[in-house]
Amino acid sequence: MKHFTSVKDVPDLEALVARARAMKARPRAHESLGRGCTLGLFFFNASLRTRLSTERAARNLGLEVSIMDAGRGWQLETEDGVVMDGAAAEHIREAAGVLGRYFDLLGVRTFAGLTDRQADYEERVLQRFIEAGGRPVVSLESATRHPLQSLADLLTIEEHKPVARPRIVLTWAPHPRALPQAVANSFAEWVLAAGYELTIACPEGFELAPEFTKGATLTHDQDAALEGAHFVYAKNWSAWRDYGATAPHRTDWMITPEKMARTEGGRFMHCLPVRRNVVVHEAVLDSAASLVLEQAENRIWAAQAVLFEMLKNLDA
Ligand code: CP
Repeated sequence: MKHFTSVKDVPDLEALVARARAMKARPRAHESLGRGCTLGLFFFNASLRTRLSTERAARNLGLEVSIMDAGRGWQLETEDGVVMDGAAAEHIREAAGVLGRYFDLLGVRTFAGLTDRQADYEERVLQRFIEAGGRPVVSLESATRHPLQSLADLLTIEEHKPVARPRIVLTWAPHPRALPQAVANSFAEWVLAAGYELTIACPEGFELAPEFTKGATLTHDQDAALEGAHFVYAKNWSAWRDYGATAPHRTDWMITPEKMARTEGGRFMHCLPVRRNVVVHEAVLDSAASLVLEQAENRIWAAQAVLFEMLKNLDA
């Protein structure tokens, strides 16, 4: 695995999940693997989980880690051919090129702009980073995907599934701000790649891009979707069709104890951060049904499995 930007970069998904499980069982078993190697993490957006879990994972593998918050006070130009007489002081080509000279492995987090769908879905920032950095790149969330989150989510499902073929529901939930589709896209992509059946529930107009949901069942009836579910993954996303549109008034889509009662002992999942009593009622978050902390912990083991595979590839 050279780069890690989507499930398509993973040659053997089952083996990667098994690797994450092995990392969880013995976190320091490979602490000499990364010795002498460096990892640079570059964040265009704020992060708690991705930043700290990836750092924890890297240290468990003996990597030396540097982190740069580029979101504040460091504007990069990402378009080619522009006259740079605006706010951006540096072009991503030079910035990523410099980072490639400083580190053996690079990580980058960038969010969707939610104004230009084509630019977001072409992953222009991530692609330029890969091209100009000249080093293996791990996505710490990009405009359209969050693969480290999805690997952690898949590991969590494997650990907690009550039956071999659980009923998994991804449901849209309300939120006051316009959020990217990345977590939802990625969750659908990974769950389907793992061979599970997936139902996606969302209000009309909030259907995800078909490239991520081929094979899933789509419904606009949340209550029906929740019937008999074993896992309920709630997430807000803004519209893909009317790109970036939101629906904060759809409070009827918030996950409540009454809705969870429709499930088959369903476990609640969310990538965090989550807005209590907006996305999900606090009684659900605080109940034994919630897996959100397990998901967050599994971010360490997901990142460690991915960095392990990338380090092995460096040596190959
Ligand atoms: N789930 C997730 O990516 O969290 P952070 O934004 O805190 O990294």
